[in-house]
Amino acid sequence: MGSVEGAAPVRRPPRMSANPARRVLSDLAAEWRGRGRFPPGPGDFSWARTHQVAHDPLPLLLGAYEEFGPIFSMRLLHTRVVFMLGPEANHFVTVGAPENFHWRESSFGDLIPLLGDGLLTVDDEFHDRARAIMMPAFHRQQVAAAVAVMQTETAAAIASGLRVGEVVDFYAWMRNLAMRIAMRALLGLDPDEAGRGAAAAAHFERALHFFGIDYGLRLLRGPGTPWRKLLASRRVLDEIVFAEIAERRANPDPGRGDVLSLLVAVRGEGGEAFSDREVRDQLMTLMFAGHDTSTSTVTFLLYELARHPAVAARLREEQDRVLGGAPPSAEQLESSLPYLAMVVDEVLRLYPPAWIGPRRAVRDFEFGGYAVPRGAYVNYCSWASHRLPEVFPDPEAFVPERFTRERKAALPRGAYVPFGGGQRVCIGKRFGLTEVKLVATMVLQQLRPDALPGRTMTIRQMPTLSPRGGLKIRLRLRS
Ligand code: HEM
Repeated sequence: MGSVEGAAPVRRPPRMSANPARRVLSDLAAEWRGRGRFPPGPGDFSWARTHQVAHDPLPLLLGAYEEFGPIFSMRLLHTRVVFMLGPEANHFVTVGAPENFHWRESSFGDLIPLLGDGLLTVDDEFHDRARAIMMPAFHRQQVAAAVAVMQTETAAAIASGLRVGEVVDFYAWMRNLAMRIAMRALLGLDPDEAGRGAAAAAHFERALHFFGIDYGLRLLRGPGTPWRKLLASRRVLDEIVFAEIAERRANPDPGRGDVLSLLVAVRGEGGEAFSDREVRDQLMTLMFAGHDTSTSTVTFLLYELARHPAVAARLREEQDRVLGGAPPSAEQLESSLPYLAMVVDEVLRLYPPAWIGPRRAVRDFEFGGYAVPRGAYVNYCSWASHRLPEVFPDPEAFVPERFTRERKAALPRGAYVPFGGGQRVCIGKRFGLTEVKLVATMVLQQLRPDALPGRTMTIRQMPTLSPRGGLKIRLRLRS
């Protein structure tokens, strides 16, 4: 935070090396220090296992849970990685003993070159202070102010991009829409403006592409590599974002409701402001954390509705009764559409887009009778935890009724964690849920999704869950 007289100094997060060789060496050293103190699980090197974790981790993780219980380890590439699954484990990592863990040194550390020191990639007091300063930007009235943007953009996107009777890639459609909403609501840029708006959207997508490619390719350095392309897009994004920050500092306008303007204006308890760099890092982090997640959630929702016409019919009945054909308000989305809330909860159970909570142990700890050494990579995993049959009977079935108010309240703590928990619980939860529900409602008010016979969806999970190759569905006019 920009230091101010009287404000206590906060230790800045450590610099992280982007050099893959250095990282491998430090991982090997950490494992050597912790030797003999890892939870059970396969410790041999295996390409097949590493490949499976990168392409289809769920069966592997659920199999290991069956064999070893809620904490186990396995060697992935060169290093041993600890996984913690199930309600107690999720609770332990997020709420019970989060001081044992850092996000920054986790296996997702390669996000730092793009995100910098935003909420996701920092820890301890530095994190908590930034979070407290940012909270007002995500309060109810702030999110409600973004609903007008969401409505306008969604109506335009339905009119221009969803052709009745044709097969559409709904995932690509939603991705474009989510980007437009983020540009306007977060960055305050017009995505149709040929200059900054369009360039920011294009380069942000290009930068995200880096994190979806195979790990081996991400390690390459030098001209023409994906790494260089990431850096080039980051440069363009930085130019645009820093110019916007300077513009807002020069001409403060309290009427501007975009999150960037709020981040420029917010002050901590001691009156301290974010520096330009901090505003940039927080904004980039919000764009990253919110884009794929909202996109995938709406897409998986449409996929399940196409396969479950009775659920779609009940949703339409609810929206007709409550909304009578009008677009939903923020208040209605939050509390007047209980069946929609249950459907979204069930979608996020089966497909929690931020499927893994990456951490690094910063001290030795114990869980479930096993020791874990400082320096170990540790992940909690909502995706696998949400499919444990003892917690969610018949876990593969899509059953929104699991999430009636009473049944949701009766779940063990830590059982259902699509937004994480504790001090790091998703700061954009209200914003994301509002967007997901609004887009789904407005699409269903006009259209009926039909599954394409013979097509099955497979999931990719780099870095967030999404349908591999997009989601092709046919849309019909709702009768
Ligand atoms: C359906 C949509 C979303 C889902 C499922 C989701 C899920 C999550 C999860 C699981 C975490 C915690 C990760 C961990 O424990 O390691 C998280 C953190 C975060 N999310 Fe979201 N998210 C969504 C939308 C958004 C949106 C729209 C934004 C911003 C506008 C956002 C911003 C963040 C940030 C900044 C963090 C880090 C919080 C911290 O560490 O203090 N998310 N999200």
